[in-house]
Amino acid sequence: MSSRRLAGAVALVTGASSGIGAAAARRLAGAGARVFLSGRDPDRLAAVAAQSGGTAIPCDLTDPDLTTELAGRVLDVAGRVDILVNNAGQGFAGPLTEMTDAQIQALVAANLTAPMLLARAVLPGMLARGSGRLGFVGSIAGRLGVREEAVYAGTKAGLSVFADSLRKETTGRGIVVTELVPAVVDTPFFARRGRPYPRRRPRPVPAERAADALLTGMLAGRHEVCLPRWMVLPIAVRATLPATYRRLSDRFG
Ligand SMILES: NC(=O)c1ccc[n+]([C@@H]2O[C@H](COP(=O)([O-])OP(=O)(O)OC[C@H]3O[C@@H](n4cnc5c(N)ncnc54)[C@H](OP(=O)(O)O)[C@@H]3O)[C@@H](O)[C@H]2O)c1
Repeated sequence: MSSRRLAGAVALVTGASSGIGAAAARRLAGAGARVFLSGRDPDRLAAVAAQSGGTAIPCDLTDPDLTTELAGRVLDVAGRVDILVNNAGQGFAGPLTEMTDAQIQALVAANLTAPMLLARAVLPGMLARGSGRLGFVGSIAGRLGVREEAVYAGTKAGLSVFADSLRKETTGRGIVVTELVPAVVDTPFFARRGRPYPRRRPRPVPAERAADALLTGMLAGRHEVCLPRWMVLPIAVRATLPATYRRLSDRFG
């Protein structure tokens, strides 16, 4: 990671208490950025902040007021945000009919509404300066759909189209919008949602690799980074050959 371009940059990373977000916060700090870390668990967040020399701001992103407050606090303290890593997210595995109202609302709020609110909060400053980088951690679930993950997949599909639309809205104004589209990353994500990863392939990749892929993509001005790269194939098949995709999907899930 280029420390020349990141030295002194102000970064806000959500979901920094674990997994991909923690790895991203460490990488950014290692490259000289001033990092603000957000997450729910205050102890784990403080531990990652201590490792990275960053500032921990615990926040539950299912609450839109707290989410707006989080952005306000970082802007008050640092005066600007140069890099926003919208990474926090939660999953749910199981039939839609078994989800409670609260579970559906929490997934939509944390995975979709919060990244929108945070992007809206930091964007005016980025536009005024003519530079800024917005990273979004999507999911292959948002591109292909996954059985018994309808709400999760829906939030990630929404996030993907939101990022794409925001890119169009800000094009030519110095703003880079990058979406990471991971398949499977080796983090506590699956244990937390209550169902382990059920397949052999794609194989889980380390959280550090996912964080590097996102941050490198953001610095390089890439729109989208699939991890592993070959996941572009099923995405392309679904877009160009929907009937074939449906047959394959019915067979292989
Ligand atoms: N792991 C995978 O295979 C995979 C694949 C595709 C996409 N993703 C996406 O990658 C992102 C990072 O997940 P991960 O794999 O690193 O999982 P993780 O280790 O479980 O980390 C998730 C992070 O999001 C935070 N978070 C969750 N709900 C939150 C809420 N309501 N308010 C504030 N923070 C919240 C967690 O905070 P606390 O721990 O403090 O609660 C944690 O820091 C997520 O958006 C996920 O959907 C993961």
